[in-house]
Amino acid sequence: MWNWQSQLLAGGSGTGARVSRTQLHRETVDLAPVADAVVKQLRLGQPERDVEFVSQEKVVAYCDPALLRAVLENLLGNAWKFTSTRPSVQIAFGVEEAKDERVFYVRDNGAGFDMAYADKLFGMFQRLHAKSEFEGTGIGLATVHRVIRRHGGKIWAEAAVGQGATFFFTFDGDARHAASPDTHAGERAIAPAMEQSHAA
Ligand SMILES: Nc1ncnc2c1ncn2[C@@H]1O[C@H](COP(=O)(O)OP(=O)(O)OP(=O)(O)O)[C@@H](O)[C@H]1O
Ligand SMILES: [Mg+2]
Repeated sequence: MWNWQSQLLAGGSGTGARVSRTQLHRETVDLAPVADAVVKQLRLGQPERDVEFVSQEKVVAYCDPALLRAVLENLLGNAWKFTSTRPSVQIAFGVEEAKDERVFYVRDNGAGFDMAYADKLFGMFQRLHAKSEFEGTGIGLATVHRVIRRHGGKIWAEAAVGQGATFFFTFDGDARHAASPDTHAGERAIAPAMEQSHAA
């Protein structure tokens, strides 16, 4: 399904290969319609699921649009997958103003995970859930981590078992592309970024 990931691993010529080899093509883009399109695609795959998706109206970022689409496919794909055992599902996407940076988030109310293992998630083939429960190979977040790092940003997660998960990410230099007025400064305390030392 995540074809761009296999390209990344194979060092092919698609989106994935650009993660490590060439310059980023950064532009100012609104990620809100991108997220909407990703969720629409997920809905097409499982039309029987009842998922409420909330996105801020405008989520402007200075980033490589193709790579950020891949990030959202992964994070929203995970949110979609790890909520599949819930009767009532909420997934949210947006950006919040922290002190001197903008923090993007993808939040779900799914299975969550134990924060004791949170630093493992971004490593290759690292999974906290059994394949019998939720399918996957453990490549998605390693790739996401790599894309965010290429943008000079960081990514971390907050979760609790049975209480959902939120993935946060930042881009270096985003402050220059100031926030839209409909974001909520200081609404939530930002957790310190976890050190991600794995070479993804
Ligand atoms: N939204 C989430 N809720 C709960 N656990 C998550 C969530 N996102 C990721 N995880 C945990 O992190 C692990 C790694 O995520 P990652 O996206 O890399 O792998 P995957 O989704 O299992 O497989 P793949 O992305 O390769 O299909 C997951 O297996 C799961 O244990
Ligand atoms: Mg995944």
